[in-house]
Amino acid sequence: MDLRRDVALGARLAVVRTGGLALALAGDPVLRLLYRPWIDDPVPIQRRLREAAQPYPSRSGVLVVATAAMCRDLVRDRRFMVRTRSGGSLGGSVDGGRDPLLEPVDLSFLGMDPPEHTRLRRLVGGWFTPARVNAYEPLATRLAERLADDAARRGRFDLVADVATPLPVAVIAEILGVPDDDADVFARWGQAVGAGLGGVRSLRALHRLDAAVAELRGLLGGLLERRRHDPADDLLSHLAAEDVDTHETISLAALLLLAGFETTSTLLGNAVAAMTDAREPWAQLAADPARSGDAVEESLRLDAPIQFTARTPHETVRLGERDVTPGTVVMAMLGAAGRDPEVHDDPDVFDLDRPTKGEHLAFSGGIHYCLGAPLARLEGRVALAALAERTPSLRRVPGAVRRRSLLLRSYQSLPVTV
Ligand code: HEM
Repeated sequence: MDLRRDVALGARLAVVRTGGLALALAGDPVLRLLYRPWIDDPVPIQRRLREAAQPYPSRSGVLVVATAAMCRDLVRDRRFMVRTRSGGSLGGSVDGGRDPLLEPVDLSFLGMDPPEHTRLRRLVGGWFTPARVNAYEPLATRLAERLADDAARRGRFDLVADVATPLPVAVIAEILGVPDDDADVFARWGQAVGAGLGGVRSLRALHRLDAAVAELRGLLGGLLERRRHDPADDLLSHLAAEDVDTHETISLAALLLLAGFETTSTLLGNAVAAMTDAREPWAQLAADPARSGDAVEESLRLDAPIQFTARTPHETVRLGERDVTPGTVVMAMLGAAGRDPEVHDDPDVFDLDRPTKGEHLAFSGGIHYCLGAPLARLEGRVALAALAERTPSLRRVPGAVRRRSLLLRSYQSLPVTV
């Protein structure tokens, strides 16, 4: 533990926390999204940001775009990057490197611009095409049915812990080639790391996260080493055989593991909560489980698991009525985009028959478009179908806990009964 670093980080955290809260209390809508009560229901604030119809200047220095058109244009615009001109984290205070508070985990090519992004994404892209992913449908279906059967037998269960999380963990572990015995350990560390992805709020959280990252990297490093000598037909063996630096390979494997399960688990929790709350969509799905693909798309639109992404230009770029200078962080509110009334009628309603199905930015766009989208869609589809078949009268019971995160719109726990 580096004491000097800790003192500096602690001081920065205190300034960010108190300064942010003061601006939130003074009415800054973007900073409000970080605090209770606003964090629990970001929809009214997102509406206000969308209605601004221009990049909205938060007093934190960040610009926010929230209409579907502006968000789409931003993520597709090749002049906007995910690192600053010096290679630093967006909005960070570390010149040319990762800022431990804003970017506590090395997320490989998700946090890189071309040409590095292109090189690493190509290395694994072939493993996540729809055709390749469809080969996992029988396995995903078997797992989803078993989890739903077990849960239905218990009668009362936590949708997140008992179904929504174990399914994506098992599938990504299978693709990567993580042995069954290790899958639980990975899930535990992955969850600890995933929870910290949106940025850390205390030194204690940062230390916990650092320890979890070190453990996860150690486990992945050990597995890669094994695969180098004893290759199998899995993604880790493929990576072990490539001429790529070990540190970089471990970051890449960690990205695939982490990007996949918190997000997919979030999707399933949000979908079940929204459909059972509104009743009719769940009844429609129970009557025809083959419509689970529509349910996935509608849930992604209504409650995007990843609520925003961010970019900065390396040259001055005109955005709406503003000149955005290099280093200025622009946030695209992907969640707000899904509820844009310019695109969707009655945007706050969960409608399985929506004609604009699939028109959302939950998987972002441009060169960082979610690599795992076909896999997430497959897992979402088979899990919702299995639940609708086996627990047609599913409903929530009190005790749901929302994750306190600006990045993930998510239930940490969702108790339900059959
Ligand atoms: C419902 C589930 C999921 C959602 C909502 C989601 C969302 C996203 C979003 C919004 C981005 C882009 C961020 C940006 O533009 O800055 C992204 C990137 C990514 N996602 Fe997903 N994701 C999901 C599931 C998965 C799964 C199952 C995988 C498994 C491999 C995965 C792997 C990735 C990777 C590797 C990237 C980085 C792409 C790049 O930078 O080129 N995701 N995801």
